[in-house]
Amino acid sequence: MDASLEAYEAERADFERVLRAIHAIRLASESQLASFDWLLETIRQVGLVPIPEYEQTYAGEEEFINASQQGLIQLPREFARYLLIAARERPATYLEIGCFNGATASLATAYLQRFNSQLQATTIDLWPAFLFYSEVRDLLPLHYEVGKTSFNFRDVHFDSVFIDGDHSFDWSWADYQNVGRRARLCAFHDIANAPYLDLPLGGVCGAWELLKQTDKGSHFEEIIEHPSGRIMGIGIRRAV
Ligand SMILES: C[S@@+](CC[C@H](N)C(=O)[O-])C[C@H]1O[C@@H](n2cnc3c(N)ncnc32)[C@H](O)[C@@H]1O
Repeated sequence: MDASLEAYEAERADFERVLRAIHAIRLASESQLASFDWLLETIRQVGLVPIPEYEQTYAGEEEFINASQQGLIQLPREFARYLLIAARERPATYLEIGCFNGATASLATAYLQRFNSQLQATTIDLWPAFLFYSEVRDLLPLHYEVGKTSFNFRDVHFDSVFIDGDHSFDWSWADYQNVGRRARLCAFHDIANAPYLDLPLGGVCGAWELLKQTDKGSHFEEIIEHPSGRIMGIGIRRAV
């Protein structure tokens, strides 16, 4: 078979896992939706993107690594815990910044829609990597915009925001100021990711620390599941 056709089919086959997870979430009972173990297994079945140094990054989750660029760039235990916390707020509007292939945005939208049937989600990225968006567009209230940043949404209110775009300090801080600040719940991905500490001002890790030091009126929670405590991590700022 032609190599590029084979590669395309591998991507499409792995994206099928996202569609299966969307359907599973739509059909899930309330006790399944509330179950960390059920959510964890659902996320694991979508699979993980083999990013550079994936063996170290996904320590303990190796069997869930996909062969293609479809899946999540998350630690499943962290993303499951994040979704459980995000659902408590029952957001009506949700924004993910930096969706890459769209797996995280699709899962979050499917899950949060079960807690608020009026949910409208938006996801953005600079690059058009959400190859199979047309297949989720009719299944989910998820709007996808390419070539946009948080600056394009400065006048839009979102109840909940997930920041996972450019992990520099400047961009993380700008994303927060543009849209995260006004959200009831704002999450940052990679708050404990050691390599970002070497970026100027500590990258997104530095932005998260600065936020914790300066915003005394919010509640802060950290989800860090990697055995080293120094990879990925999700920080959640919640208005009280
Ligand atoms: C690590 S990936 C996101 C992965 C996805 N959220 C997940 O968890 O699987 C980061 C994405 O952010 C995008 N990106 C980089 N800078 C951005 C910016 N300033 N605004 C929006 N997206 C950006 C990149 O193109 C890339 O697709």
